[in-house]
Amino acid sequence: MKVLVIGSGGREHAICNALSKSKRVSKIYCAPGNAGIAELAELVNIGVMEFDKIASFAKEKEIDLTIVAPDDPLVAGAVDALEAEGLKVFGPRKNAAILEGSKAFSKDLMKKYNIPTAAYETFDNADDAIKYLETADMPIVLKADGLALGKGVLICNNLEEAKAGVKEIMLDKKFGTAGNRLVIEEFMTGREVSVLSFVDGKTIKTMSSAQDHKRAKDNDEGLNTGGMGNFSPSPFYTEEVDKFCKENIYQRTVDAMAAEGREFKGVIFFGLMLTPKGPRVLEYNARFGDPEAQVVLTRMKSDVVDVMEACINGTLADTPVEFEDNAAVCVILASDGYPLEYKKGFEIAGLEAFKDKEDFFCFHAGTKFSEDGKVLTNGGRVLGITATAPTLKEARKKAYEATEWVSFENKYMRTDIGRAIDEV
Ligand code: AMP
Ligand code: GLY
Repeated sequence: MKVLVIGSGGREHAICNALSKSKRVSKIYCAPGNAGIAELAELVNIGVMEFDKIASFAKEKEIDLTIVAPDDPLVAGAVDALEAEGLKVFGPRKNAAILEGSKAFSKDLMKKYNIPTAAYETFDNADDAIKYLETADMPIVLKADGLALGKGVLICNNLEEAKAGVKEIMLDKKFGTAGNRLVIEEFMTGREVSVLSFVDGKTIKTMSSAQDHKRAKDNDEGLNTGGMGNFSPSPFYTEEVDKFCKENIYQRTVDAMAAEGREFKGVIFFGLMLTPKGPRVLEYNARFGDPEAQVVLTRMKSDVVDVMEACINGTLADTPVEFEDNAAVCVILASDGYPLEYKKGFEIAGLEAFKDKEDFFCFHAGTKFSEDGKVLTNGGRVLGITATAPTLKEARKKAYEATEWVSFENKYMRTDIGRAIDEV
């Protein structure tokens, strides 16, 4: 079958890699893709928000399955637009992608259906928000309601910071219209774990857990980023935690969406915090994480196409979703300066070292071809160097070894990805 993937980052490269392993896939297209994805897929020069062009292309090429991977097109209704043209699409429709698209919606859903999360209030104007903050306990968390590239969350240590945060989000509109509404949330403490899951509207099957490293610098210092590396599985995601989440979070979320007339089909990503009072939902995403997809999909044993089709057809209950009993670590090679200002357009050397290696992966996040066919850096996150091994420690050692195989000007990485593994 012919598959079209929408997106251009490391997550989409990992999805294309999983598709390339499927016996059922004969041809992969990716719009717009990047220089690494070009090794597995034919690149299509169409942007992720150009739904009409995507639909025309998919019809012309008789695409059997289209996978919408990024949050922006999902929240804007890409799946609805493509389905309306008769295409088979993996991903939630607009009325379900709101689970990620509006934090106020997701918090209200959790409250209504008793899904454990931080206490919160929602505000439509800055004066009311500030009045509320004047009597609130600190630290406190401010969240812009809408999509903000993972950056719309401010943790404020005192009233002054919190007032400045309200101004930034609601008045200065630092995150644009995402800040028209504000969620103010209780500050929680604990380890964070990401659990991705496949959902067919009724049934949910979780993937192996992962742990992200969101801050730019070692020791979790520096600014929040899209993710500087991660590992899977998380040793802190114990059977006890899994049991609690199965009983109180996963199925309840799927049932809640169905009860609201917002049947969810696709991937739900649960951002969890393991607090002293038990697991709590920090956030939902309506898609694979980036770089979570890189460490989770490389460990997936089942054919990803079978599972995605089962999500679309509502037959997930009868479809196995299995993972290898191994581990994966991904270290992001970024452009120095990310997530603020950075230079790009530098040639990347050494990529051929990954050829024909089964347990090493060089997922491209931000790369492009030069006119003469060289691979150039083209983003803040450039490559996701990923390795699998029987244990987390071995996978980490291999991933860091492989970071030395490639070089480019301004190459930057965290040196402590997976440090938590040593605390087990
Ligand atoms: P989110 O985009 O909602 O996952 O938030 C981004 C990051 O902010 C999370 O990964 C946490 O590190 C932190 N965070 C979000 N909500 C809270 C909270 N209620 N308490 C403490 N930290 C939080
Ligand atoms: N790595 C976090 C995310 O994809 O949102």
